[in-house]
Amino acid sequence: MLSEEKNRQLTQVGPGTPMGALLRRYWLPIAAEGELDDKPVKAVRLLGEDLVLYRDLGGKLGLTDRHCPHRRADLSYGFVEQCGLRCNYHGWLFDEQGACLEQPYEDVVLGNVRGRVTITAYPVRALGGLIWAYLGPDPAPELPEYEAFNWPNGFRQVILSHIPCNWAQCQENSIDPVHFEWMHANWSVRLKGANGPYGPRHLRIGFDEFEHGFLYKRIREDTDEKHDLWAVGRAMIWPIGIFLGDHFEWRVPVHDENTLSIAWSFQRMPLESEPFVQARIPYWYGPIVDEAGTWISSHVMNQDFIAWVGQGRIADRTRERLGRSDLGVGMMRRQLFADMETVARGGDPKGIIRDPAAAKDVRLPLVHADRYRTGMARRDLLAHPVLGRHLKGYPYQFGQPPELLEEIWRAAGVTRAQLGLEQAKAPVEQTG
Ligand code: FES
Ligand SMILES: [Fe+2]
Repeated sequence: MLSEEKNRQLTQVGPGTPMGALLRRYWLPIAAEGELDDKPVKAVRLLGEDLVLYRDLGGKLGLTDRHCPHRRADLSYGFVEQCGLRCNYHGWLFDEQGACLEQPYEDVVLGNVRGRVTITAYPVRALGGLIWAYLGPDPAPELPEYEAFNWPNGFRQVILSHIPCNWAQCQENSIDPVHFEWMHANWSVRLKGANGPYGPRHLRIGFDEFEHGFLYKRIREDTDEKHDLWAVGRAMIWPIGIFLGDHFEWRVPVHDENTLSIAWSFQRMPLESEPFVQARIPYWYGPIVDEAGTWISSHVMNQDFIAWVGQGRIADRTRERLGRSDLGVGMMRRQLFADMETVARGGDPKGIIRDPAAAKDVRLPLVHADRYRTGMARRDLLAHPVLGRHLKGYPYQFGQPPELLEEIWRAAGVTRAQLGLEQAKAPVEQTG
């Protein structure tokens, strides 16, 4: 339980708030790189700021204030030039540093006596098929290049969804092992119309801190201390991510009542398809409700979305009753409050990387490392109880475009018939 004041501190992310100041110390993923291939200018709302993201004709990325400093037109309707973004109202042109390069009419009548104009601009970079932004003070820390981004011979995809609630309740889910048993395993049984059998019960859970976040560990009725789920654990990436081996998820704070869910998925292609190099990383937006407006509950992340949004636009933590399964949630909150104080004192919060060498190929705790670092023959992949199922469709979120799935099958050299998909529908995978 938190006081009203503490709940506000935890959830308000706009400029000038303590949490806003903390989150501005990190590089945050804000879009799929492929979005700019389709349309080079994109309106972005991040940490309560209205911004515009673009890639100019020279290939440079920019992230600036959404509103033109002339008469406040919306720059997401602007157009890109060889260098920079031009406002579609009177043609003022801005580069990625925020300098106004041209004011077409003023340049004619005033020449170089026209006043200097600038616009707010933030550093922005592409990595791993994602666009990352940094909204904090200089100098920016290093952008971590996770090992998974460099794994060879994999099919990657990016999945985005707009979630109408505050980011913190989404991220509390990243340190919550027990919800998996109920929300995913057992609820899925009931959703299918059966009353059982239920999944294995949690017998023990544990939490550890590590350099880049926190780990949660579990022992279930069907596993023991030697199992990777206890020996390695799952990694919550500080402060807004989680890494589950075959995918990352980030809960990107749009504003106090909205979050952008970004997932990055990796599927190792079979040895027979090597070398497999992806020319571009595809992306798709996953719907969260169906045509009737009913929440989609068929996939793991969709189930999580239902939990997060069900807690309210901003979860009222003055009325919660934490239990023994919530030790990780408590750890996360304590660290966030400590980090807010550190930032207020001018220090670096948890997980910031300043050494460029330390930001290269960042290794994270990894369960089933051999699945990703080492390939597997096509026959073994098809027969694999988990990876074989993953070939039948994206397991974690509803809405994968069929043509993208077919692209994966072509890359992997597998057929619908080999996957047993002539009639059957892809089952729901459960990992978390
Ligand atoms: S409002 Fe942008 S150029 Fe006039
Ligand atoms: Fe979950």
